[in-house]
Amino acid sequence: MKQNLRRNLRFMLKTRGAIVPFVFVIFAVSLFPPPQSIGADSSATTKNQLVVHADQGAQTINRNIYGHFAEHLGWCIYGGIWVGEDSPIPNTRGIRKDIVEALKRIEIPVLRWPGGCFADEYHWMDGIGPKEKRPPMVNTHWGMVTENNHFGTHEFLDLCEQLECESYISGNVGSGSVLEMQQWVEYITFAGNSPMANLRRQNGREEPWKIKYWGVGNENWGCGGNMTPEFYADLYLRFQTYVRNFSGNRIYKIACGSYGERYDWTEVLMKKAGRHMNGLSLHYYCGSGKNSRSATKFEEEDWFEQIKRALMMEDILTAHSAIMDKFDPDKKVGMMVDEWGAWHAVEPGTNRGFLYQQNSLRDALVAGLTLNILNQHCDRVQMANIAQTINVLQAMVLTDKERMILTPTYHVFDLYKVHQDATLLPTDLQCADYAFGGDKIPALNVSASKKSGKIHVTLCNFDPNHAAELNCALSGVTAKSVSGQILTADQITSHNTIEKPDVVKPVSFHAASIKDGNVQVTLPAKSVVLLTVE
Ligand code: AHR
Repeated sequence: MKQNLRRNLRFMLKTRGAIVPFVFVIFAVSLFPPPQSIGADSSATTKNQLVVHADQGAQTINRNIYGHFAEHLGWCIYGGIWVGEDSPIPNTRGIRKDIVEALKRIEIPVLRWPGGCFADEYHWMDGIGPKEKRPPMVNTHWGMVTENNHFGTHEFLDLCEQLECESYISGNVGSGSVLEMQQWVEYITFAGNSPMANLRRQNGREEPWKIKYWGVGNENWGCGGNMTPEFYADLYLRFQTYVRNFSGNRIYKIACGSYGERYDWTEVLMKKAGRHMNGLSLHYYCGSGKNSRSATKFEEEDWFEQIKRALMMEDILTAHSAIMDKFDPDKKVGMMVDEWGAWHAVEPGTNRGFLYQQNSLRDALVAGLTLNILNQHCDRVQMANIAQTINVLQAMVLTDKERMILTPTYHVFDLYKVHQDATLLPTDLQCADYAFGGDKIPALNVSASKKSGKIHVTLCNFDPNHAAELNCALSGVTAKSVSGQILTADQITSHNTIEKPDVVKPVSFHAASIKDGNVQVTLPAKSVVLLTVE
């Protein structure tokens, strides 16, 4: 974690700033009605120009860009997802019903498990069979707590079936063996007569599961074994050889990739092993504020800093993609951004190793802009998994025993689900800057897609003090109607709590209209907006 923070600091110093060119034209008079409600200051608006090339679009936004990640860490699995069959909390075979419902609502496409750093110290055979016979283990990486191993392979795959999503398992390279990984795949997927398939049957599952995504290690440059890229590339080649396709199951093999701006790792992996992988991972956490790492007690300086660091995802993806293009010009190898998000200080009084953090409107903006950037890179990015699903880092849901709240980040995933499997529409955005403390970033950020005859445009306005007027032209299409939803709040620090769960939640948006076939919109300060154009 310290390593991550150090890196974030380095990135911050190196940032190349704006990700889109801008033209700044100030219109003193607002031509449009004020937004529906919620704290929008439209007294000083600026006019900005967006072109959505609605008659173009060649790439599909892989639904897995909206993926999630659940590690054995703090209260993510135990308490967050798994409560056990005997719990008074409503559950299906030990898995919380409210969590399954909430995640299905945002159409979770894929779930990565069991880690993270935990993956490289997890021995899957300890997590199968009768629960009372499973040996406990110490989670040395996260809080030194003892786990009873009641949530294992069967429970994870049951969870994915309940969620109706793809499963993505990260295998242990750091402290595991080739045999252990080979047997895990056989245990899950082999339909015939074999020691592993029979062990699965003995444990109550007759039919094999299908599993597509398989990670060969996690952060093997760090917590997964402190390896050099050359050493890991050789290990990857060896391990992946034995990740077999049994009984018609076809595995998409994912090699452990880099972190942030570490480009030599990508170069070496692509050079030595690129032909033996389907995907290469990438992690990037955008840290927290400049002066305060608190998730909810921060100033505008911290807001600005956080957004700026999150925007660096654009440069990072561009640079890693360029390296991958050298070795794989046809883009056969997917970039899997299988960990991303904000990383704040833990909530006061909680275990530092549990990474339990609150989630504010600032996190919603981080999610909105990051998903926009990932959409824009969907030619190379085939999956992304925000860290993490429940109660850890930039979570979707925070639980307190039987109660739960949906975070602002959850609501962004809800708004943005329209992009899943849609056709990305190229966009040109010219916008004003949001300047703070002698520094500046573009005030707006966008992505657009087309699905089932509808165009969806998701926009972020980072400026916490000024609304932005935007003229949106749709080339090749005459817009007939526009509707929208908005996520904003009174304060940059606004967040949901068990006592007040609906402080930050989407409401319908009425400050968009059609004029001469174009969409005219006033984006309130500090907001995420979804527009649907027909
Ligand atoms: O998501 C928390 C941790 O961050 C993961 O375990 C690790 O892969 C990364 O460093």
